[in-house]
Amino acid sequence: MGQFKAKFPDHFYWGGATAANQIEGAFDEDGKGLSAADFVEYIPKDQRTKDNAMEITSEQIRKTLSGETTARYPKREGNDFYHRYKEDIALLAEMGFTSFRFSIHWSRIFPNGYDETPNEAGLQFYDNVLDELAKYDIEPIVTLSHYETPYGLTEKYNGWVGREVIDHFVRYAETVFKRYKDKVKFWISFNEINMITISPFTGGGILSDREDNPMQAKYQGLHHQFVASALATKKLHDIIPDGKMGCMLARMSHYANTPNPEDVLKAQKENQDNLFFTDVHARGEYPKYMERFFIENDIKIVKESGDDEILKQHPVDYITISYYMSMLSSATPEGERSEGNLMNTLKNPYLEASDWGWQIDPIGLRVVLNDMYDRYQLPIFIVENGLGAYDKAGEDGSIHDDYRIDYLRKHIEQMKEAVGDGVELIGYTTWGPIDLVSMSTSEMSKRYGFVYVDKDDEGNGSLERRRKDSFYWYKKVIETNGEEL
Ligand code: BG6
Repeated sequence: MGQFKAKFPDHFYWGGATAANQIEGAFDEDGKGLSAADFVEYIPKDQRTKDNAMEITSEQIRKTLSGETTARYPKREGNDFYHRYKEDIALLAEMGFTSFRFSIHWSRIFPNGYDETPNEAGLQFYDNVLDELAKYDIEPIVTLSHYETPYGLTEKYNGWVGREVIDHFVRYAETVFKRYKDKVKFWISFNEINMITISPFTGGGILSDREDNPMQAKYQGLHHQFVASALATKKLHDIIPDGKMGCMLARMSHYANTPNPEDVLKAQKENQDNLFFTDVHARGEYPKYMERFFIENDIKIVKESGDDEILKQHPVDYITISYYMSMLSSATPEGERSEGNLMNTLKNPYLEASDWGWQIDPIGLRVVLNDMYDRYQLPIFIVENGLGAYDKAGEDGSIHDDYRIDYLRKHIEQMKEAVGDGVELIGYTTWGPIDLVSMSTSEMSKRYGFVYVDKDDEGNGSLERRRKDSFYWYKKVIETNGEEL
């Protein structure tokens, strides 16, 4: 039998990924307006329920705006990247990063979302960040919308439910394409575009309690995001001819719980429900299998003439995913459940889980990469993966996070095998290279980083940065292009 040794391509992008609302802080500095993330309160674990952690009600908005609350809003504070970006980027450079994914906080550029002219101070901030990255030859990957819908758009249109938001988004996209055309080649339109159907406020600034038919509102908002993404892709190609637009999916792959054909069918359906989003982005049309879903759920997507052509003419150039775990499908889903990214699932007896119950499945990543490449034949960039864990600093400040190294090593091994299988994988950015605020729980103690940030869930701490063991390990991985794991 012949020997085969998989290896990463020579110009593979290694790095880390973030979102403006989880790192920047400075939520009201230099002309920034409020965004959806600025309304998310920190709720201690024992008071948190599935529904109150991310989805916000009109009543909460009212209380926040009127000041009738003692709530804390950690996403307004982030890890203070806004003031520390030079120090932070130097740390990324020290690890040898060749790429860094971050998002532009839309409301820093257009404070209300619907403004006619952009806020110069906001534009200047990202110029500064990009210049700092360029200093170290770090390729930026920029997300236009990562759970940061300007609140002005919620107030005026109930977020993405309003068709008008398409034009506002395209104006924003055009503004930043023109401004950063010599600095940014890789763009992503919407982070985890499937989020809008799971948490519509997070994904689309939509307050469900303002809608008679929330299901209809979510899918209508999603349609507007699809059209906006395609129009932004068109603009990008006009303004930056070698620019690349990617879509982004929280890939939640489902295995059948048993070989029972009922379970297999269920898994197929749940995989379709997840791949629907990339199907539209990459193939430029709604897949046939969704017609049945829309009828059965009384959803009627209102399209304007020309929408279908726009989707068809401007598909994405590459696919990006977040991958943290896999899920199980069963026609009879009773049984022990496990928490997860965006959704919970049946417990898989073959997998271990993280401190937050997310089931760790490195081989599942190889399966996902092969499946998605077979489906689209487009380059794939893994723009999020990692282990959220409790870290404990020793007396001397050291953090021995061998569990994180183990998680990442196993995923990188499988990525390498997927490259060996023929998948065109162009890069890997781990989630939260410097500890940041959790999206789902607003905790600081759910840490993903190679760099520890001295701040706790209550907001106390010096914000000092400290290198963990994984910092030195990842540096070696990058140096050897994934040969030394
Ligand atoms: C992804 C999001 O779903 O998962 C990130 O794009 C998020 O914004 C990440 O932070 C990890 O989730 P959490 O809830 O652990 O922060």
